[in-house]
Formats: sequence, C-alpha cells, structure tokens
Amino acid sequence: MNKLLLIDDETDVQYSFQRIFDSPDVEMATASSGEEGLALLPQFKPDLVIMDIRMEGISGMETLRRIRQIDSKQLVILMTAYGTTQTAIEAMKLGAYDYLLKPFDIPRLKELVANAFKAARDMKQVVSYQPLLEKEDYEQGIIGRSEPMQQVFKLIGQLAASDATALVTGESGTGKELVARAIYHHGNRHQQPFLAVNCAAIPEQLLESELFGHERGSFTGATMQRVGKFEQCHQGTLFLDEIGDMTPATQTKILRVLQSGTFERVGGNQPIRVDVRIIAATNKPLEQAVAARQFREDLFYRLNVVRVQLPPLRERKDDIRLLVDYFLKKLCREQHCTPRSVTANAIKALEQYHWPGNVRELENAIRRALVVSKGDAILVADLPLEIAGPAAAQAQPPTGSPAPVAPGDGTPGEASALARQLFQWARRDPKHKIIPAVERELVIQALKETQGNQVHASRILGITRATLRKRIEKFGIHRDLTIS
Ligand SMILES: Nc1ncnc2c1ncn2[C@@H]1O[C@H](COP(=O)(O)OP(=O)(O)OP(=O)(O)O)[C@@H](O)[C@H]1O
Ligand SMILES: [Mg+2]
Repeated sequence: MNKLLLIDDETDVQYSFQRIFDSPDVEMATASSGEEGLALLPQFKPDLVIMDIRMEGISGMETLRRIRQIDSKQLVILMTAYGTTQTAIEAMKLGAYDYLLKPFDIPRLKELVANAFKAARDMKQVVSYQPLLEKEDYEQGIIGRSEPMQQVFKLIGQLAASDATALVTGESGTGKELVARAIYHHGNRHQQPFLAVNCAAIPEQLLESELFGHERGSFTGATMQRVGKFEQCHQGTLFLDEIGDMTPATQTKILRVLQSGTFERVGGNQPIRVDVRIIAATNKPLEQAVAARQFREDLFYRLNVVRVQLPPLRERKDDIRLLVDYFLKKLCREQHCTPRSVTANAIKALEQYHWPGNVRELENAIRRALVVSKGDAILVADLPLEIAGPAAAQAQPPTGSPAPVAPGDGTPGEASALARQLFQWARRDPKHKIIPAVERELVIQALKETQGNQVHASRILGITRATLRKRIEKFGIHRDLTIS
C-alpha cells in the first residue's frame, strides 16, 4: 500500500485527486493547509506528499522547509500555477522530489506519482542524510516555462546544493553564463568570489598567466609577480567560459588542478593548493573535439560530471512570449521609456523565426524595436527584416540597399531590388509561401496607410476595388488586423 498525502486548500483539487488515486494500492489523506499537513505527517507517515505552493496560512515552500526539518527523506512534489524560475530552483534546492505546473495532465501526474512511490521504496534502503541548506532569496532572471527549461532549473537547483564540477553547453546566446551565475548564486559558495575567464578571448601564453599567475621574470614583460584567477578564487567559483578553445598545454594544467587541487605559477616551482569550484561552458561540441584529439578526453570526463545542456530557443518557442514580456519590462525600465506592448502579429513573427542567435538575438531584436517603434505597441514592421519577413520589407530595407518607395511610385529597378530581397527570405524557408504572404501584407499595408479607404488602397495597389475586396475576404483581413 502506497500512502499519499495531498496538501491543497482547493476542494476541487482534493476531489480530483481522490478520483484519480481511487485505487486499492493507494491510501490517500488530504489536508487543507500547511499546518494541517504538518500535523498529519507523524501519524500518517506518507510515502509521498503532494502540495500546492500557494496556500492560505504558511506557504507550500515554508511547509516543505518544515517537512524537511522533520524528515529529510520525505518525498515531496510541489504544485504551482505560478511556475517561476525562482520557485522551481528553490523547490529543487530544498530537496523537492519534483514539481508540477498546473494545469497538469492526468497521465503525467500518475506516472510521476508511480515513480515517486518507487523512489520512496528505494529510499527506505538508503541511510545517507542530506543536511538542510539555508537559502538566499535571489531573483535570477532566467525566464522559461517550457519543459526543457524546467529540466534546466531542476539541474541548477541540484547543482547549487552540491560542489560538483559542472559543464554548461548550448549554442551561442542560449544563456550559459546566466546559468553558471545562477548555480553560483544559489550555491554554498555564494559569499565567496565568482570569477569568469573567457578562454577564447585571451592568447595562450597570457591565458596561462591569467589563470595560474606568474613569477617575476618568468617571461619577457613579466616584471612583477602575478597572482592568477585560481588563487584569487580560493574557496570560490571559477567560470571557465569557451573551454573548447583552450590549448592542450592549458588543458593539462587545468586537469591537474581538478585532480589534485594544485598548480604552479608560470615560471614557478612551488606547488600552490587551492579549493575552487569549476563551472565550464562551451558552445562547441566537445565530444567531437575529443574524437578529433583537440580536447583531452580525461579532462572532458572530469568537467562533464554534471552536464547542463541548454536547448536552442527554436526548440522552446513556448518561452518566446514570456521572454519578450520580460525584455520589454527590463529594457523599458533601464531606458526610462514608457511601458510598451507587442501586437499579436509581431508575436507571431517572433514565434515563427528560427533564432540562430538564440535569446541574445531576441533581446537585441526587442532593444532595436523599442528604438524604432513609434507608438505604444511594437509592430511587425519594428522588428528586424529577417524576423519580420515581407511585412517589413516595404517598411525598412536593410541599410545599404535603396529605400523602397510606396508601391505604385517605384521604378522597375526598385521593384526588382525588393523582389530580390523577398526572394532571399523565401528561399531560406519555403514554408513562408512567398506570393500569398506578400500579397496579404501589401493589402494590409495599403489599408493601413489609407486608414481603410478601399478606393484609395486599390488605386495604390494597382488593382480594382472588386479585386481588393476579394483579397480582403480571401485573407480574412478584419478591421483590427489592418492595424498589425
Ligand atoms: N532564459 C533567459 N532568460 C532571460 N534572459 C536570458 C535567458 N537566456 C539568455 N538570456 C540573456 O541573453 C543574453 C545571452 O546570454 P548568455 O551570455 O548567458 O549566453 P551564452 O550561452 O553564454 O552565449 P555565448 O555562447 O555567445 O557566450 C544575456 O543578456 C542573457 O541575460
Ligand atoms: Mg557566454
């Protein structure tokens, strides 16, 4: 018999749990508050507690903290409709078994609960004790509700509770540095230094001296002794960025520090002992570098103890809306501008784009849109051309090409320059369906420019009013859509 304790103040949730877990294998108890749940705990001795984070009285997070004080091995799953990075990381760091975002789907909930019951049985055989950690409330600003990002938050929480070496990988702009800093901020060493070294930006000889320091006179120009980052970072966290670009000699030295905690300054022979946590990052496929013998295999395994693989933005498009909202708020605050919103069409364009530069590119797109937008809302035309597609082709050519003039006034040369530009856009992805897409955008643009005057709009477009009407109907353009 598996025992389940549900702590939730919503009776609807209690009823649905009773229905879902109405089985001879499960004995269920319910509590309507954290206090009630805590009181039930010693008699009922559940294998698993499932609890809401937002409740009247003491919060789910505080209840979790108290449960862990009573029994550090109690399995707890937190539920929240307000899944923020902060709660996800904090929950995992406090030792929650998992957390669920509401609304949850029932098969997934059942699977999670079955796994937790199994884990509870396995854990009865384990006697190790995980001490409770004191938490710092720190707003990290890593945005994401998508499934892959939830996995990342869980790993950050788990890594923060340990001192293990971590390797953060992912394409450029996916947030590797942000994650490294989050692991540090949430970890045991947050009061000690965090130093970052970009291994790709510093020439080899200088990189060694940057990391390990040098003795006076050890090479031309070394007029003074220098203490390197490893020494400065004693008891702290060292972020080795772009680790894939390190030369073999430096790789060997790093491996030695990881294995023995010692190194010598360049030109020195005195071993220096340090206690440094390493978080490494790279956007290069290290496995391939190992296979090509450009990266030491033994160092790779040492660094790869825990791997945080950041998904590219195109694989977590669910997060785009949230990120846009976050960047708008953040940038408007920084630039002291009035709060702006984004039109539905602009969001659509942002969601359709493939984001080779990931979150950094999105942030830059919003930054640029804020500068060029004129009203309260960001329009498709305020986005960079490659993102906006044909909607913006008329409004904003890339610098260097001739400025297009309103259709109808243009010369054939200008029209073909525009067509070339549009063709390149279509070629990148045939899904764009260039002809209907351009036609639709031209109709919208014409209606917008003429404040919906169909006679005027059809004249500009060089078609009859009847044809314009047919197009409006064909593309389902409504009054409000004309203001995209
Ligand atoms: N999930 C996120 N939420 C909010 N901001 C993010 C997120 N991911 C990345 N950013 C922002 O995007 C920018 C790029 O992030 P970061 O520098 O961490 O990327 P990176 O993976 O280290 O890139 P590179 O490989 O080019 O060094 C930063 O301004 C960062 O704050
Ligand atoms: Mg980086």
